[in-house]
This record gives sequence, structure tokens and C-alpha cells, in this order.
Amino acid sequence: MELLALTKVILAYSGGLDTSVAIKWLEEKYDATVVTVTVDVGQQEDLKAIAQRAEKIGVERHYSVDAKEEFVKEYIHPAIKANGLYEGKYPLSTALARPLIASKLVEIAHKENADAIAHGCTGKGNDQVRFDITIKALDPDIKIIAPVREWNLSREEEIQYAKERGVPIEAEKSIFSIDQNLWGRSIESGPLEQPDFEPPEDVFEWVRPLSQTPDEPAYIELKFENGVPVSMDGFEMDSVAMISALNEKAGLHGVGVIDHVEDRLVGIKSREVYECPAAVCLIEAHKDLEKMVLTRHQLAFKELVDREWAWLVYAGLWVDPLRKNLDAFIDSTQRAVDGSVRLKLYKGGLRVVGRNAKKSLYAIKLATYDRASTFRQKAAEGFIELWGLPSTTAYNMFEGKKGVSE
Ligand code: ARG
Repeated sequence: MELLALTKVILAYSGGLDTSVAIKWLEEKYDATVVTVTVDVGQQEDLKAIAQRAEKIGVERHYSVDAKEEFVKEYIHPAIKANGLYEGKYPLSTALARPLIASKLVEIAHKENADAIAHGCTGKGNDQVRFDITIKALDPDIKIIAPVREWNLSREEEIQYAKERGVPIEAEKSIFSIDQNLWGRSIESGPLEQPDFEPPEDVFEWVRPLSQTPDEPAYIELKFENGVPVSMDGFEMDSVAMISALNEKAGLHGVGVIDHVEDRLVGIKSREVYECPAAVCLIEAHKDLEKMVLTRHQLAFKELVDREWAWLVYAGLWVDPLRKNLDAFIDSTQRAVDGSVRLKLYKGGLRVVGRNAKKSLYAIKLATYDRASTFRQKAAEGFIELWGLPSTTAYNMFEGKKGVSE
């Protein structure tokens, strides 16, 4: 076993079994002082209780960092502008928070003059990649330790280890592995590892079971400025409050569950279940508004950019310069994305039922089937001839009866 003496380790602390055991393990293995950090990205946990637990286990100091606003402004808003969905489905809720948490860990490591940062990720998931790469980019010299990835203890062994060292362990709340923040709740493991197993109702905390949703539909009006949501149902709210309010309202109507098989970065296919009510509504509405204000060429190209953006974020490459390059392109399209979208929610269903844009390219004078339209129908004939020319020529050559005559 490699032995390395460290002076001080900054540990990303969730309060759960893994990271609680990690405190003692780091002290023993590296003879180091441990400072714990919990970054509040809207996970709705009792931060005081987490701090107390860390202190009880014996850390030198514990930090609670409120990063909710930064999370929304610097991570969630760009994700909305990029319609950020990995593999077309997952709003990147866990993925987006990782580089932010990592940056806070590095900040505190510098403040504390620490020589290492530790996190509780396993060696099988995406989160280790996101943490390690962001930390390495921000401080190439700091050592990264991932105890769970290294120690290979089973759950029983961890509990045994905790008991022997007097680490207080809570009865685990759930058999599922949960990660949550403002942008969503990820639910993994246990019986959900069977891709054919329907998630039982009680795994969900943000989205109501359909049997308990209201019998009347609800409308939500979302207003965007420069591609960023600024008000809901006519109320301007601060950015954090708005996402929470939307999570609540959409969740109440059963909207926001995502259940799919996802390709992890490390090559594993994994069954993932998410609750992301606000993300699902905002991305759907935002995409709809873009269709009112961007040309077909912009839309088609932006789809490629959006997909690349989601891939980089998923794959832990938040720090890659390409992400900022893509943001620059995306931002240049968002100047037009001003307006409102009306959603209708009912029994788990979400529909866009109306939209209104300041710089709309939708021209009723052109679109109407009314005869008074300003569209010159006669021009269509010549258009069709030229538009179809390469295709009809090729068809005749290879499949048609006539062949191409010179
Ligand atoms: N599959 C998702 C992702 O990679 C969710 C990960 C959830 N993480 C967790 N520790 N439960 O972003």
C-alpha cells in the first residue's frame, strides 16, 4: 500500500456513510487533518445536522457553502440556453453541479493550505471524472483522493469500520443511491438496476404519483429574456426561487419523471431514474420559443451545438475551452429569445399550448390560409422546380425509366 503523509485534506462531505467513514480513513491512512465541506446546491438537506455530524466525528473544521445562486446563474441558465439534455433525455442535473462543487473544494483547499482534496465517488460512475478533471484544471498540484474508489469495502465492512471507530451511523434512509440539487433528483441502484422493473411510487419525492395529481389541469406561463427565465405566471422571482417554485408546481401535476437507459462515460449502460420537473418544463418551453425566433438554419446548427454542449458537460469536460466557445455561439443566438410560453400540465402530461415572442419570425400574413396572404403563391412553381432539380435528376438517372438526357 502506498504510504503518503499529508498535512491536510479537504473532503467533500455529504453526511452519508461513505464520506463519514472516509473522515477516519483519511486520518488513519495519511495521518492528515481533515476539513469537511458541504456545498449547498439546493439538495434540501439539513446542513446544520451535517456540520454537527462532521464535527462529532472529529474534523478540524467544517464549511457549509451556499452556492445555489451561482449554480443557477452560472450553470443552470447556460444549460437552459443550450437545451441541455444528455442523450436527448437527461437534463444533466447531477453533472452540472459537479464542477461547481469541485471549484468550491479547490477554493477552500487554498484557503486552508491543504495538500489534497477527497471525494466519495466510486470508480464506476461519471462523478469521479467530473470532480477529478475540474480539480486538476484548477490546481494541477493538488492531490486527489477518492477513498471509496480505493478501499473497495463492502457496505457491511464500512459499517463495521464505522462502529469500531465510533463513527455515528444513521439508519440509511433508502436502498437507493440519491443525488439531488435544484435542477433534479437522481435515483439509482437497488431494484432499479433491473431495467425492466417499474420504479415503485415511493422512490419519488418531487413528482406526485399520477393517482394523486389534481383532476384539473394547470397552466404555467414562463417568460424568458435573452434565453433565460425571468418570471413565472407573471411573477418575477429571483432565479433560485423560480426553479424551486416550478419544481413544486410541475411535480404536483406528475410532470418531470425521466426513466431511461444511459451510456455512462466509463462505458457502462445504466438504468437511471430522475425527477426533474423544472428542468423538463423550462427546456421544453425554451426550445419552443427558439422556434419562433431563430431561422431554420440557426435551429438546425444549434441542435448540433446543443448536443455537443450536453456531451461535454456529461463527460466531465466543463473546463474544456470548447464549452466556452459553444457558449459564445449559443449566447449569440439567445439575444432573440425573448417572450413567453404557456404550458399545460395534467396528470403527468406536459404540453406547450401557446407562445409569444417579441422578435417573432412567425408572420401571420405569410402563414395564413386566408386569400389575403402576402405570400406569392405563383412563385412556388419555380421554387419547386429548382428545389427538386438535383433529386429528380438523380432519380431519373438511377431509378427512373428515362435516364438523363443531355
Ligand atoms: N447518471 C447521472 C449522471 O451521471 C446521475 C448520477 C447520480 N449520482 C449519484 N451519486 N447517485 O450525471
